Amino acid sequence: MKILVVGSGGREHAIVWKLAQSPRKPQLFCAPGNAGMESLAACLPIKADDIAALKEFVIKEQIDLTVVGPEAPLALGIADEFRKAKLKIFGPTKNAARLEASKIFSKDVMATAKIPTARSQSFEKMDAALAYVDQHELPVVIKADGLAQGKGVIIATTREQAREAIIDSMEKSVFGHAGERVLVEQFLDGEELTIMAFTDGKTVVPMLPAQDHKRVGDGDTGLNTGGMGAYCPAPLGTSALRVQVTREVLQPIVVAMSRMGCPFQGVLYAGLMVVKGTPYVLEFNARMGDPETQVVLPLLKSDLIDVIEAVVEHRLDQCTVEWHDDYAVCVVMTSGGYPGAYENGKVIRGLSEGTPSATVFHAGTVRNGHDIVTAGGRVLGVTGYGKSIAEAQQEAYRRVKTLSFEGCHFRTDIAHRAVGPRA
Ligand code: AMP
Ligand code: GLY
Repeated sequence: MKILVVGSGGREHAIVWKLAQSPRKPQLFCAPGNAGMESLAACLPIKADDIAALKEFVIKEQIDLTVVGPEAPLALGIADEFRKAKLKIFGPTKNAARLEASKIFSKDVMATAKIPTARSQSFEKMDAALAYVDQHELPVVIKADGLAQGKGVIIATTREQAREAIIDSMEKSVFGHAGERVLVEQFLDGEELTIMAFTDGKTVVPMLPAQDHKRVGDGDTGLNTGGMGAYCPAPLGTSALRVQVTREVLQPIVVAMSRMGCPFQGVLYAGLMVVKGTPYVLEFNARMGDPETQVVLPLLKSDLIDVIEAVVEHRLDQCTVEWHDDYAVCVVMTSGGYPGAYENGKVIRGLSEGTPSATVFHAGTVRNGHDIVTAGGRVLGVTGYGKSIAEAQQEAYRRVKTLSFEGCHFRTDIAHRAVGPRA
C-alpha cells in the first residue's frame, strides 16, 4: 500500500511515524516532509499547497491514500480535487474546512447546532466594530475571520487595544484578506483543552484529551506561539467531560455540517475552554493539532491506517479505536527569537542518541550534507512516555538535555497544570 502524507511539520512527522508502525507495512511518501521523516518516507520536492502537483504525483505513482496534515491545502480544496478524480483522501472538503477557515462561519454553525461557545458578534464594517467594542465589557477578544497562522486572535484588556486590533485587521490589513471581517467575542476565563475526533460525517470517535501550551514562556507568559508543548491524556478531560463534549459539541456539529450539505470527513479538532467544569468551544480546526498530534498518536494502540480507511470509506461505526494506558509529554524546542524573527541553518546535535522512552519529532529541519540543521521557528518536538504524566515529563526533559543547537529555546514547565513546574 502506498500512502502520501502532505505537510512538513512535527504533526506530519508523527503521522508518518505512526503509519510506519502499521503491520500492513505501507510504502510512505511525504510532500515536502522534513529531515526527520527521511528514514521512514520518501520526501518529495512538492509544496503542501501545490494541489495540481500533488494530484499529478498521486496519479503517476498510483498512491492508494493521501493524508493531509495542514489546513492550507484543505482550505484550498485539495479534498474536492482528489475526490473528483476518484483518489482516496483523508481530510474535509473546502466547504467543510470552513469550520476552521472562517471563524464567522464556524460561529454560525455553532449557533444553529446550539453548541456552547462564547457570545460573539461579527462585523464587516470597521465603524460598527469600533462602536461595539466601546460598549463591550473587558477583556474582549478580537478575531480575524480567516486563516492567520494562529496570529489572528487578540485579547484586549483595554479599549485602546481593542480599537487598535480592529483597525490593524480591517484598515491596515495586517492579516491580509483574513482580517477583512472580524469577530468580537466575550472573554472566557478557564482552562483550555483539546479534544480531536475522527469522523466520517456520521460517526464520531473522540481521541484522548490533550493540553497545548500556547505562550512562549514558562508560567504561560510572553507571546502566543503555534504551541510550545503538550501532554496527553490531560486529567482535565475526565471521562464525564469527554462524554459531554462528544454529545454536546462533536456529534451536533457533525450532524449540522451534514444537514448543510457539507459533511465533515477527517479529523475535527475542538479547542475548548473549560469554565468551572463546563466546556465551551473556542475554535474548531479541520485537521490534527500541532503539537497535540505528537502526544496523541503515540498513545493510539489501533492501526492508524485501519482507522483512516474506515473514515474514508464511511464505515467508522464498524471500527474499534483503542488506546494505550500510558502518558505522553511533548516539549517543543524552538529557534531563538521565535515567535519573532529567528535564524535558520543551525546545526542540531544529539539526534542520533535515541532512547525507547522518548521520540524526537522533527518540525523545522533540513539536511545539509552530513548535518541536520534548523529550518523553522519550531524545530523539534520531543515526546517522552511514562506510566504517569510526571514520568513522561521526566523522560521528555531527559531527552531534551541531550539535544542542542545555537539559540535553542524551550519551556521548562510543560504539563505544569497536571504535575506542577519542573525545576
Ligand atoms: P483560537 O484560534 O480561536 O483558538 O484562539 C487562540 C487562543 O486565544 C486560544 O487558544 C485561547 O488561548 C485564546 N482565546 C480565544 N478565544 C478566547 C475567548 N473567547 N476567551 C479567552 N481566550 C480566548
Ligand atoms: N495546537 C493548536 C493548533 O494546532 O492549532
